[in-house]
Amino acid sequence: MTQFTPRVLSGMQPTGNLHLGNYLGAMVNWVKMQDTHETLYCVVDLHAITQPTAVWGGPQVLRKSIREVAAAYMAAGIDPKKSVLFNQSRVHEHAELAWIFNCVARIGWLDRMTQFKEKAGKDKEKASVGLYDYPVLMAADILIYHATHVPVGEDQKQHLELCRDIAIKFNNDFETEFFPVTEPVIMGPATRVMSLRDGTKKMSKSDASDLSRINLTDSADDIAKKIRKAKTDADGLPSEAGGLKGRPEADNLVGIFAALAGETVEAVLQQFGGAQFSGFKNALADLAVAKLSPINSRMNQLLADPGYVESVLADGAERASAIAAPIMRDVKKIVGFTA
Ligand code: TYM
Repeated sequence: MTQFTPRVLSGMQPTGNLHLGNYLGAMVNWVKMQDTHETLYCVVDLHAITQPTAVWGGPQVLRKSIREVAAAYMAAGIDPKKSVLFNQSRVHEHAELAWIFNCVARIGWLDRMTQFKEKAGKDKEKASVGLYDYPVLMAADILIYHATHVPVGEDQKQHLELCRDIAIKFNNDFETEFFPVTEPVIMGPATRVMSLRDGTKKMSKSDASDLSRINLTDSADDIAKKIRKAKTDADGLPSEAGGLKGRPEADNLVGIFAALAGETVEAVLQQFGGAQFSGFKNALADLAVAKLSPINSRMNQLLADPGYVESVLADGAERASAIAAPIMRDVKKIVGFTA
């Protein structure tokens, strides 16, 4: 078996504000992995345009959103010296490899993708071909760097299984061991942060109610208000994790607390078991403000200097291309395009 150097890649879409789910489900792990792995983090702008223009806002908004997401990465702790930080569309090999993977992936595999079904809604005929093909591009994002580990939230699990299937099929079809079979990294107490208004729905950018999510750009007052208004049930907090079963809202808030505090759910329940939600929510609001406000202010500082953010993205794209280009050259040889 070919041994691959451990390398991490992950990304987020520049569509609207990043929220607590993006932060706790993915970014917290991205930051940690900078110290143990070679890391690449991209702003997946090619993925953003798979949705209708109204969702990503058109060219002017997109340009701004790319900078905002890059600034959010840095504000959350991604160090552009340690990590390669770039936007996907600047490295043309992503799209080039996606085409080859289109010819490896099977329609049946894509037909099973639940996120396409959710995003396309009832009128799937009107969804873009890009939205359907989205997971294939995602596989190319990962494999164009021979990334071995991909830190994401739970909702990306199925896409990462598809990425593994594509790598395995490419390797089989071309009788090679060229691509690694990537490992998803889904870890921590908040791999699936739920809406603050409905504990059975994922916290998401697309929820019509802003009260359902905490945005990384929210003020301290907004954060505290949203937590105070978060839906809970009538009981107090249990003393053991088993007591959160069948109580999605309680489970969600305790998971958020644990993730923000860097503790386990059990440790949080040891502290708050038996308490009423009102007191717990105050403690959670204080913790969330303490953790998120510095990110918010760093993000604002960075956004006041668009030239700096731009220079980070340009440098990142150059470093990313230096890894992607030779891999793409080898792919072309393997497929038979070049000698
Ligand atoms: P996106 O932009 O929807 O989300 C970015 C990251 O945030 C995580 N996430 C959550 N985690 C926990 N709870 C939530 N409520 C929550 N909402 C979002 C996501 O799991 C993700 O890790 N397809 C990807 C972007 C992508 C990508 C890639 C990721 C494109 N190419 C290559 C990894 C590798 C997406 O749409 O993420």
